[in-house]
Amino acid sequence: MTKTQAKKVIEKIRKEINLHNYRYYILNEPILSDFEYDELYQQLVDFENQFPDLITPDSPTQRVGGEPLKEFQSVTHSPLMLSLDNTYTYDELKEFDTRVRKIAPKVSYIVEQKVDGVAVSLKYQDGKFIQGATRGDGVTGDDITINLKTIISIPLQILTKDKSLNTFEIRGEVFLTKKQFAKLNQEREEQGESLFANPRNAAAGSLKLLDPRIVAQRKLDIFVHTIPRPLSQAFTSDSQTLKILQKAGFKIILHSDLFESIEQVIEYCEQWKEARHKLPYEVDGMVIKVDDYQARLKLGDTQKSPRWAVAYKYPPMQATTKITNIIFSVGRTGVVTPVAKMTPVFLSGSTISHSTLHNFDEIKRKDIRVNDTVIIEKAGEVIPQVVKVITDKRTGKEKKQPLPTRCPVCHSKLFREAEEVALRCVNASCPAQIKGRLFHFASRSAMDIEGFGWVMVNTLVDKKLVKDFADIYHLKYDDLIKLERMGDKSVNNLLQAINNSKTKPYSKVLFAFGIRHIGIHAARLLVFNFPSIDKLSKAPFDSISSIKGIGSAVAESITNFFRDKENIELVNRLKQIGLNFTETSTTPVKSVFAGKTFVLTGALKNYTREKATELISQLGGNVSSSVSKKTDYVLAGTEPGSKYTKAKSLGVKIITETDFDKMVKPQ
Ligand code: IVH
Repeated sequence: MTKTQAKKVIEKIRKEINLHNYRYYILNEPILSDFEYDELYQQLVDFENQFPDLITPDSPTQRVGGEPLKEFQSVTHSPLMLSLDNTYTYDELKEFDTRVRKIAPKVSYIVEQKVDGVAVSLKYQDGKFIQGATRGDGVTGDDITINLKTIISIPLQILTKDKSLNTFEIRGEVFLTKKQFAKLNQEREEQGESLFANPRNAAAGSLKLLDPRIVAQRKLDIFVHTIPRPLSQAFTSDSQTLKILQKAGFKIILHSDLFESIEQVIEYCEQWKEARHKLPYEVDGMVIKVDDYQARLKLGDTQKSPRWAVAYKYPPMQATTKITNIIFSVGRTGVVTPVAKMTPVFLSGSTISHSTLHNFDEIKRKDIRVNDTVIIEKAGEVIPQVVKVITDKRTGKEKKQPLPTRCPVCHSKLFREAEEVALRCVNASCPAQIKGRLFHFASRSAMDIEGFGWVMVNTLVDKKLVKDFADIYHLKYDDLIKLERMGDKSVNNLLQAINNSKTKPYSKVLFAFGIRHIGIHAARLLVFNFPSIDKLSKAPFDSISSIKGIGSAVAESITNFFRDKENIELVNRLKQIGLNFTETSTTPVKSVFAGKTFVLTGALKNYTREKATELISQLGGNVSSSVSKKTDYVLAGTEPGSKYTKAKSLGVKIITETDFDKMVKPQ
């Protein structure tokens, strides 16, 4: 193939991929299965590898690219990135309406959800995404183009040939869904890292990362809402602009409506007050904007905000209480987390007596002191947190809690790693870390040793019966029977559970070690690529980090782990005990299965339902009982049921048992 021919083919595939992304991420109406999409994407990768000069920055393959940055460049906003005036009562909304109607008597309002995320600006030139920035102070922000490119709902190339959308700026809100937020925090907890307080902080923190590969894993999303300076006559109102933007490939906030009167606006705000909790993303209010652009021009802006728009903020679920102490808890990777102890207070359904303060920067930023009266809030109905200190209630008895310099448990010196806000105890023999590691090792998702929960871990470590994983397997009947509340039956059950855990596969053992950044998925990928621990322990950084789905953080963490002699000794002791350190199964995790959701319907020839389910999960996939747009494959046997029809109507990929066999064992 000549270069000119290749250019044509590459452009055609890119266009197709852009369209499929649009259907999937913006319209929620995919027509390709993930398998077919992956094939198409791979074709593009292959062509681009063959003709590297044809790679352009707007190619879908270039979303996660480039080396980590050292720092962000500054971007000046023109026009300024204004903010919105907030209102908290419907009376204030009526006052806003009166102000508007004095200048523009006959306006309609477009009312949109106020998405709780991070404001960004996106610039396009000749229909291509060229620069993206944070709001910063409204005058200058950070150039975070490489991070924004990882957001698949930001089109790198505009889909329509509309002249009005050729060179322009658009502003929107980057956010993390509640589900992604929960997943991210769970992973961070598993890895002993400090937690994000809410989805907005998590989105903001992610956009500030200097390595776009990590940003890509966060799966950020965006809604666009404003063209700050509509340059063309084509745009006459917001409602019409949004339609054009959606056609061009942007994701707009779907829940919006036009209203003639402020009473109707208020009714709409009221409708979303409770309903917003069911949305997949956080909404903290509604934005009320004059729809017509001529009217907007007439109304103009103040120094800080436009006169044609206002935000109505929903009241949060809050309570007032007093902080009685700030203590420090040490996780299994040594991260020290400050926790506020409070006078117990009832807040939407439960009594709250403590709340994580997340990290030390949070204490400093909010200036939280012992004896302070504070407002606490349940954000997104999840964990309670301290919103702010009521400084008016200070009496002079408040005490700043100094940063700990030593671990509260083992008293060794604490360290702060570059780029991290967390303080860390680096003494691997710290009892708090030992306990955390043992608890994780025995937990259900790891070695699954029933009866080896927090109480048992605390007792065994305090009595110095166990200090590492291998010690668990040397516990004797006589050791355990002496413990409080342990009878003959519970001791035997525990010993049996410990013994049974020896059959856990290598991937679970590797995950159970609790090495930083190694979740179960990474463990499976590592085991697939290095089927024995001897191979893994000798693998150089580059050969680990080059595995698809494994980043440099994992590779660094693994190589660090095996650099430590004590860890090697521990592995050797566990080998002697009989734990699995090689992948003997003929079905290692396969990337075509990794993270994919299967639904089974009809009868299969060679597998029972249970066997097929087990096989899929061993290969890294999930099995679900119902078909939705999120289903990747429906495996249909003979006489399939309604799931088959549903899959057809949703365009979900349907595979036969023969297709499935080929995926399991490709020729
Ligand atoms: S319109 C001049 N619409 O809220 C700014 N903003 O508190 C016009 N936001 O800076 C903004 N959802 O980042 C608009 N549907 C929405 C929004 C929205 C969230 C953010 C935006 C703004 C901030 C003001």
